[in-house]
Amino acid sequence: MPLHLLAIESSCDETSASVCTDGRIVSNIIATQKIHEQYGGVVPELASRAHMQNIVPVVDAALTKAGVRSDDLSAVAFTRSPGLIGALLVGAGFAKSMALALDIPLISVHHMQAHVLANCIEDPLPPFPFLCLTVSGGHTQIVLCKSYVEMEVIGETIDDAAGEAYDKSAKLLGLPYPGGPLIDQYAADGDPHRFQFAEPQIPGLDFSFSGVKTSILYFLQQQRAADPAFVEKKLNDLCASIQYRINSILLQKMKKAAQQTGIKAVCLAGGVSANKGLRAEFTTMGEKLGWNTYIPAFEYCTDNAAMIAITAYHKYLAGEFSGLDITPSAR
Ligand code: KG4
Ligand code: ZN
Repeated sequence: MPLHLLAIESSCDETSASVCTDGRIVSNIIATQKIHEQYGGVVPELASRAHMQNIVPVVDAALTKAGVRSDDLSAVAFTRSPGLIGALLVGAGFAKSMALALDIPLISVHHMQAHVLANCIEDPLPPFPFLCLTVSGGHTQIVLCKSYVEMEVIGETIDDAAGEAYDKSAKLLGLPYPGGPLIDQYAADGDPHRFQFAEPQIPGLDFSFSGVKTSILYFLQQQRAADPAFVEKKLNDLCASIQYRINSILLQKMKKAAQQTGIKAVCLAGGVSANKGLRAEFTTMGEKLGWNTYIPAFEYCTDNAAMIAITAYHKYLAGEFSGLDITPSAR
């Protein structure tokens, strides 16, 4: 009998469901909530309501694409934390109801652990121990992964996350939410060394992005005072220079982490790992330093249930199940 797992992700503004059969992802359906664009950021209550609307069709589509009936499922998994509490409650409630109705085990998954294991969906798989730079809208972490279920955060941001730095910088440029992908797009035709923004001096493996944001803010205020059309005229160079600064902060710390640990298997994960500049610079740095580098396919970088499913599969093999009384947690 094949082992079919259904996983649900609802921590922020993507409603997603995935089926994993014997450790292989066979479907990954993602409904991105567009409603937040007009508000310049995710509105928690609207996210919960959109999850409520999306969850049944998204789960149906994931089962249909996989050719799996709910009666054939061996377990159901959900994102327990971190995330928006109202959004997490929708996925948790749905997963619990399915586990109860089908009388199958329930598996809770940590969203950040799942981002890391997005690297373990497709071949080649990174060997343990490996390092992972996880860069998302809410987190920026360097993780030391000892096994599928043992991970240690060895560095993290002391203020904004890298995705937040992208989105806030984009907002300063007048770009809509989420601005990260737009900066990536405009940066492709810009000069990354045209403008210089502050480089934080944070000891150890921790990150800081608030100084970069402030230096961009002051620079734009000055330039706009002299020429109100400055941003429109220099948008490509501004995006390329902002992207260069954020990515260089990330990569310098990763270099330090690899030196300190002596680990040569190095991965990227999280929404910001969809950034084309970061993917390219990470690969080049890896070649120079003799690393074996791993980056998930685009669909597994931003929030998705396939990463929840692969994590749940390894938790299933390790016998890590949850009781039906489990509750989600924002942190
Ligand atoms: O992992 P994710 O989908 O959600 C969280 O768990 O937070 O990450 C979303 C973040 C947003 O800040 C978004 O702007 C950023 O990832 N992002 C990008 C790109 N694609 C998504 N940032 C820069 N370049 C991109 N191509
Ligand atoms: Zn995420």
